[in-house]
Amino acid sequence: MSEPLHFLAVLREDLEAARHRDPAARSMLEVGLAYPGVHAVWVYRLAHRMWRVPSLRLPARLVSQLARAATGIEIHPGARLGRRLFIDHGMGVVIGETAEVGDDVVLFHGSTLGGKTMRHGKRHPTLGDNVVVGAGAKILGPVWIGSGAQVGANAVVIHDVPAGAIAVGVPAQIRLRPAKAAFDVEIDDPAIYI
Ligand SMILES: CC(C)(COP(=O)(O)OP(=O)(O)OC[C@H]1O[C@@H](n2cnc3c(N)ncnc32)[C@H](O)[C@@H]1OP(=O)(O)O)[C@@H](O)C(=O)NCCC(=O)NCCS
Repeated sequence: MSEPLHFLAVLREDLEAARHRDPAARSMLEVGLAYPGVHAVWVYRLAHRMWRVPSLRLPARLVSQLARAATGIEIHPGARLGRRLFIDHGMGVVIGETAEVGDDVVLFHGSTLGGKTMRHGKRHPTLGDNVVVGAGAKILGPVWIGSGAQVGANAVVIHDVPAGAIAVGVPAQIRLRPAKAAFDVEIDDPAIYI
């Protein structure tokens, strides 16, 4: 597949991910027009491509800031986000420059993948695949969130979370019982949509 077609396919996957995961979504058209989380991810994918060209880093930041103004979602163009990321509701989401996010991740509004210090270098979290981050949760520092983990609403995570675990509370405590993968959860599952 050519590069432009591959890029369009990735954008389409983002759209489909939102359509499949949000029980309130009634059509692809509605999702494409009315979902700020999808718009923010789309703009990020463009800005990240620009970011990889050193002379385009300032324009990439400006594009990113336009998306922030329009959606309330701030994604640094240097962050590395996987495929089919769904940001639900979106407002107040912050994803820092050195954050890394796997495939099929869900972030709810108010969640932060942030740094604990102002030092340069890797200072933001790394999320595996199928991670769910609840509304208002803060994941701080270069911690690792294993695949299939779930971070509860309003949790503050400052240590690694094993794959499949649940992290809840402030500071977050780890519950080592099997968590449901984002893709395996029924769309009206109360564990995801409280
Ligand atoms: C963390 C979460 C995924 C766990 O869901 P679950 O697998 O159904 O687990 P349970 O509800 O059985 O909770 C397990 C334990 O964690 C506690 N817990 C669950 N969510 C919590 C939270 N956000 N903060 C603090 N404790 C929490 C429960 O009280 C329970 O404790 P107990 O074992 O001592 O009784 C879920 O509660 C959650 O927070 N999801 C995020 C949803 C969200 O942000 N929705 C936004 C919609 S707009």
